[in-house]
Amino acid sequence: MSEFNELVNIDIKNKHILLREDLNVPITNNQITNDKRIKAALPTIEYALSQGSKIAILSHLGRPKEGKYNKDYSLEPIALRLSELLGLKVYFEKEPLNIKPPTYENDITLYENTRFLVGEKAGSDELAKNIATNCDVFVMDAFGASHRRHCSTYTLAKYIPVTCGGLLLIKEIVNINKIFDNPKKPVLAIIGGSKVSTKLNILKSLIKKVDSLIVGGCIANTFLLNENFSVGNSLVEKDMVEDAQEIIDLTKKYKVNFPLPIDVICEQNTEITLKEINDINTSEVIKDIGSKTITIYKKFIEEAGTILWNGPVGVFEETLFENGTKEIAKSIGKAKGSTIAGGGDTISAIEKFINIDDIDYISTGGGAFLEFLEGNKLPGIEIIKKL
Ligand code: 3PG
Repeated sequence: MSEFNELVNIDIKNKHILLREDLNVPITNNQITNDKRIKAALPTIEYALSQGSKIAILSHLGRPKEGKYNKDYSLEPIALRLSELLGLKVYFEKEPLNIKPPTYENDITLYENTRFLVGEKAGSDELAKNIATNCDVFVMDAFGASHRRHCSTYTLAKYIPVTCGGLLLIKEIVNINKIFDNPKKPVLAIIGGSKVSTKLNILKSLIKKVDSLIVGGCIANTFLLNENFSVGNSLVEKDMVEDAQEIIDLTKKYKVNFPLPIDVICEQNTEITLKEINDINTSEVIKDIGSKTITIYKKFIEEAGTILWNGPVGVFEETLFENGTKEIAKSIGKAKGSTIAGGGDTISAIEKFINIDDIDYISTGGGAFLEFLEGNKLPGIEIIKKL
């Protein structure tokens, strides 16, 4: 039996529902440039509508200054897009929720950015009590914001009779947990990005669960430095070298394969060179992995039963340095093992180089995805746990 209270198991017929979604999508000049998070919220909304409930949707957008309306962070374009996708009118309510709580007059109303409200980020009880007025069921569906202990992702649960997880939130938990619960072996994690410091906890946590770990991007540079290779002028965290050693010790303790790059693509002024890892001069900058390294990493991918991918292995935004990330993406897209990916850069790389349907599961979470992998208790998930 599930350890969570799930929307599908709760009678919501003709009930007033507060639905927290993560509709934090990129908007430029009033135009939504990627609506994946809106689409990911549709199953829960459609299910609630099919049950005849009245829905008030809450979401944040960006990081505006609290207590102040700012048109650039308005959810109004999202209400329009939601109407188009659902094929029905989604009302948009500008009036701040602390002044006027939802009235549930319409079938579906989207409320203005929760982060305009004073008390949202601090998880204010007073604000929660106000918003909760007239509400029967709180549906938490915003996986992407579930690591935030905010009023709309956490405190509301205290003041509404029933709290449960929406279809998306439950789907995220089930799919990400596949890496931890009885995964097909061997399990491979590829963790890239620019800083060891931001990924330190996730690396420590994953080592206990995976059979092989590949670090990419500037993270790898810190490990190379720890192994006494010169990384030239590359981005590197010198103060994290001891932590890198701790990670290496843990990979040995838990018998985790930990292949570091053996060749890399370097840039020096305008010159681009493929270099063996022991041959980098002081003014070169590592920008991508080399062909021998790609071959080794691909073998790990081909042999893995489960693959987790977060973070590129090179500066894939620049054509000259995209090859490593492109080859890794293509290989993961074709892998026979089950594949899961998450994080903004990773999704951009997937969209750039392969078909997103070639990955078995792509999380809608950024920071939340990482915190979940770290094994942290996420406030927005804690509230849907059965007591
Ligand atoms: C995200 O984009 O990762 C989520 O919407 C959370 O946004 P935040 O980091 O501003 O809380």
